[in-house]
Amino acid sequence: MQGLFFTFEGVDFCGKSTQIKRLVQRLEHQDIPVLLVREPGGTDISEAIREILLDTKNTSMHARTELLLYTAARAQIVAEKIVPALAASMVVICDRFIDSTTAYQGYGRELGLAFVQKINEFATQSLKPDATIWIDIPLDVAEARRKQFSLKKDRLEGEARSFRERVVAGYQMLADAEPDRIHIIDGNGPIEDVEERVWQVVSPLLTRWQDQ
Ligand SMILES: Nc1ncnc2c1ncn2[C@@H]1O[C@H](COP(=O)(O)OP(=O)(O)OP(=O)(O)O)[C@@H](O)[C@H]1O
Ligand SMILES: [Mg+2]
Repeated sequence: MQGLFFTFEGVDFCGKSTQIKRLVQRLEHQDIPVLLVREPGGTDISEAIREILLDTKNTSMHARTELLLYTAARAQIVAEKIVPALAASMVVICDRFIDSTTAYQGYGRELGLAFVQKINEFATQSLKPDATIWIDIPLDVAEARRKQFSLKKDRLEGEARSFRERVVAGYQMLADAEPDRIHIIDGNGPIEDVEERVWQVVSPLLTRWQDQ
């Protein structure tokens, strides 16, 4: 049986890592084999690429270089980790995936959607998540959390507000285009409430998968 592939998306501080941790705990509690990976990263090669991408020293990085580095990191993790885990019937949870590239590089950097989507397909060999959880929060809430929880900005966190607005608009367009795959979760409110909303989406998919 082929595994089940979930991805989490949304702007920085929307709560992806927090919610993924809780979901993984739930799944492990049910003895479901889980592979958790984060993008960019998750393999030795991809983690090395991640350091280049997030390094605040790399202010001169061209948008096209950025797109290719993200895509290179993804090609590696798909081949080395995700495809084998799905073949081994695991539940794979990925912290950011193709939609981040479309939202950030396609919409945010305005690199051209058709091309970004093509290169996504190239990197993933057209592998798509079974379901994507987009945790949606207003940018002001993200900003408040950044002030509360983060001292240091990485290269991308230093981007202008207009960039972030294009990213959110990009996620919205993606969700509108693929409503069956992309589930919009309201990320506002207590962590437990968001966790419950995520579970309402994941749980029926899991049950259907287990009943196959
Ligand atoms: N619902 C919530 N209410 C208040 N604070 C939250 C909520 N969810 C997460 N946080 C806090 O906000 C911060 C960012 O959360 P988290 O790291 O999960 O976001 P993220 O989407 O993974 O961000 P990044 O893209 O930067 O990795 C953390 O300190 C977390 O504890
Ligand atoms: Mg995170």
